[in-house]
Amino acid sequence: FYRSNRQHLSAMFNEIDWNNTPKEKDEVTVRTPVNIAVIKYWGKRDEKLNLPLHSSLSVNLSMDSMYTETSARKSKDTVFCINGKIEVPTKRFDRLINKIRADHPESNVDITTHNTFPTAAGLASSASGYAALACALKLLYPTSGNVSELARLGSGSACRSTAGGFVLWEKGVEEGGKDSVSRQLYSEDHWPELRILVCVVCKDEKAVPSTAGMQSTVQTSSLMKHRVLHVQQRIEQITEAIRLRDFPKFGEITMRDSNEMHAVCLDTYPPIAYLNDTSHQIIRSVHEYNSEKGEVRAAYTFDAGPNAVLFCEEKDLFEIRDRIKSKFCGEGGRVSELVECKIGCGPMLRAS
Ligand code: DP6
Repeated sequence: FYRSNRQHLSAMFNEIDWNNTPKEKDEVTVRTPVNIAVIKYWGKRDEKLNLPLHSSLSVNLSMDSMYTETSARKSKDTVFCINGKIEVPTKRFDRLINKIRADHPESNVDITTHNTFPTAAGLASSASGYAALACALKLLYPTSGNVSELARLGSGSACRSTAGGFVLWEKGVEEGGKDSVSRQLYSEDHWPELRILVCVVCKDEKAVPSTAGMQSTVQTSSLMKHRVLHVQQRIEQITEAIRLRDFPKFGEITMRDSNEMHAVCLDTYPPIAYLNDTSHQIIRSVHEYNSEKGEVRAAYTFDAGPNAVLFCEEKDLFEIRDRIKSKFCGEGGRVSELVECKIGCGPMLRAS
């Protein structure tokens, strides 16, 4: 019995339909998903606008345990409260609000935002966080332009959390970034058997933030130049694997792309190493499992940190989870938490 993420949340939330311009509101609460790239974004051609060197493709996690919830209301002053603490708005936040103020000069917002998972630990908190902010601002102060463009100004990967299911962020060619936007390729219902297992290895903030890491890679890595040449072909291949729900193909491309991104990080000078010993042991264990099965049934991917995100189909989930549990969890275990998710829908608006 499969219940989609949208159905699961529908008692309290409605999916936002940007095609039918939502009515202007004074107060909103939105929930946005974490997305995990299977074809990674690493490297920018424009740092102010977060325009990438190449396109990327991601999957949203269902919003049962990992998501951002943001409440925002129009107010006299702008106040920004994140995870219970009043914070000085960041430069990235200013980029978003300034874009809104181009159409609504007087706009100010009182924002309270909350992540259900560790911030800045390579668990894509900036993605769901800025996606939530972009959605909330656009609902309070409707503007022309794509919501993913607004989210992208906060954090590149955030633009992929503004749509549901399998999402493509096209690099675009325009200088101003109008066409560097994301769109849904397939909805969350397309592949209901797909499961995601997040293995939390480390909750600390990452040593090298993505923005700085990417900058250094673009300046110093020759392998990056090679990557840029073939990413597009990989995107086409994985899109076809998703269309056919071909797990072995999907899994292999996902692992190869993660490995390549981390190879590019190591090729950066000085090198950037996001993976730790546990990450490498998980990688080995996934390959062992696949060779026992004679085909790819589990796949890993890593963002800018040591936490592993595993993909598999529902039929193999228990076996894979038990294996990870027995090898890496328990007393003195190196994996402190395992979070199971399905494919998630796009941003949701709390019903008033
Ligand atoms: C490794 O979106 O955090 O997670 O645009 O500088 O904010 P900025 O970077 P960010 O980078 C994410 C990089 C990644 C890969 C990915 O999500 O595609």
